[in-house]
Amino acid sequence: MPSCFSVYIALVLLIPVLLSLRNPRGETEQNASINFSPTFSFSITSLSSRDTSDAFPFNERIRDGSNLDYDFYRDSCPEAEGIVRSAVTRIYSDHKDIAPAILRLFFHDCFIEGCDASVLLDDSDGKENRSIEKQALPNQTLRGFDYIDLIKNELEQTCAGVVSCADIIALAARDGVVLAGGPFYPVLTGRKDSFQSFYEEANNQIPRPDDDVNQTLGRFALRGFNERETVSLLGAHNIGKIGCDFISQRLYNFHGTGKPDPSIPPDFLRQMRINCQGDMNSSDDKVSAAFFTRKLSESVPGMSYLQALSSSVSSGSKFDTHYYESLLKGRGLLFADQQLMAEQKTARLVSAYASDDGSTFRMDFARVMLKMSNLDVLTGTQGEVRLNCSRPVRTTV
Ligand SMILES: *[C@@H]1O[C@H](CO)[C@@H](O)[C@H](O)[C@H]1NC(C)=O
Ligand SMILES: *[C@@H]1O[C@H](CO)[C@@H](O)[C@H](O)[C@H]1NC(C)=O
Ligand SMILES: *[C@@H]1O[C@H](CO)[C@@H](O)[C@H](O)[C@H]1NC(C)=O
Ligand SMILES: *[C@@H]1O[C@H](CO)[C@@H](O)[C@H](O)[C@H]1NC(C)=O
Ligand SMILES: *[C@@H]1O[C@H](CO)[C@@H](O)[C@H](O)[C@H]1NC(C)=O
Ligand SMILES: *[C@@H]1O[C@H](CO)[C@@H](O)[C@H](O)[C@H]1NC(C)=O
Repeated sequence: MPSCFSVYIALVLLIPVLLSLRNPRGETEQNASINFSPTFSFSITSLSSRDTSDAFPFNERIRDGSNLDYDFYRDSCPEAEGIVRSAVTRIYSDHKDIAPAILRLFFHDCFIEGCDASVLLDDSDGKENRSIEKQALPNQTLRGFDYIDLIKNELEQTCAGVVSCADIIALAARDGVVLAGGPFYPVLTGRKDSFQSFYEEANNQIPRPDDDVNQTLGRFALRGFNERETVSLLGAHNIGKIGCDFISQRLYNFHGTGKPDPSIPPDFLRQMRINCQGDMNSSDDKVSAAFFTRKLSESVPGMSYLQALSSSVSSGSKFDTHYYESLLKGRGLLFADQQLMAEQKTARLVSAYASDDGSTFRMDFARVMLKMSNLDVLTGTQGEVRLNCSRPVRTTV
């Protein structure tokens, strides 16, 4: 473990340097005209934002994470990040689905009103009839809450009331990505938890599996993600399963035609139909649910991108470029995934990611996850630290 730990520390210190030094145009020599605009830069200086944090307005959500801190809990709960990491590692050994499950919770949380753990709330803030964010998605597809509760529980035993649920999601998502074979990236901490959840926003703003490429890019652009970042973020579909609920309409009743999506290659259609048999009546409601939603348990019908690429694989996941390779072959599982090939600007990115050993994708994914984890966070006197992740302590807004 000591050597692991020092590697970890070395990576923490190195990665930001790599991210900042990296020439954002240099990674795809195949076509220099690809617009890889470096809108995001992360430098080592932002790791010590504590000194300057007073300069930031406390009543605003800050999108770039500049009000977060490196190792925020170093004094209040020095074990915090280690506890999260070892809990995720332990759970992962029996439940591989923790990685995609928490990754999905993380996306959903950060995408709707920022990374504030609003997705975890059970409470409707005392307002009758106010539906909660959790319910904005088909409830049976939401998973990972139990894992967060387990981790929170361990943290509460060591440092009661100190570590926010929003930080737990961000840290656990990163640790899960690493365990699943994905890249390491540093996660700043100091997020506070929201007092409320955001049902309408979740319903209206989350990317949908039946979005076309323009809609997908538009939704991500509203969150400050450019085309390249959006395409790299969708690489999260490398791991986990996509539930048949989100695939079936494409297979049996595409856009109400009673026929499959004509763009699906026949052999792939057959393969997908074997995995997702005939729920012709799967409703629009289900299909229009969260883009990142998928059935995560191995026992639930669904398909992974590893299966999409190789019919000889029955399940499993690997954090490499097979998502992009699948799209190049027309073997995207979701309509929205395959749509990345419908516009040249995104198709070029897909082929750039698919065409090396995966290092371009991994670097971009690390970078975009870091950006996502800093999205519109609550810090300082905003929000609170929940004691139970599904319940606000104070119910004032
Ligand atoms: C690079 O992009 C240009 C258009 O901008 C295109 O004409 C050319 O074929 C592309 N080259 C490669 C290798 O994809
Ligand atoms: C709450 O919902 C019920 C059933 O939909 C409805 O009858 C009731 O009027 C609603 N109450 C408020 C305060 O909106
Ligand atoms: C989903 O929610 C509905 C209504 O709240 C409930 O009837 C159903 O049992 C839930 N399904 C699961 C799998 O929890
Ligand atoms: C995206 O929008 C552009 C401009 O409106 C349009 O020409 C193009 O066909 C759209 N692409 C798709 C895949 O819908
Ligand atoms: C689909 O819905 C129609 C009408 O709602 C019903 O008659 C049919 O039995 C359903 N099919 C399946 C497979 O559930
Ligand atoms: C957290 O709160 C929920 C209700 O929102 C409750 O069901 C659950 O048991 C609580 N968990 C703990 C550990 O107290």
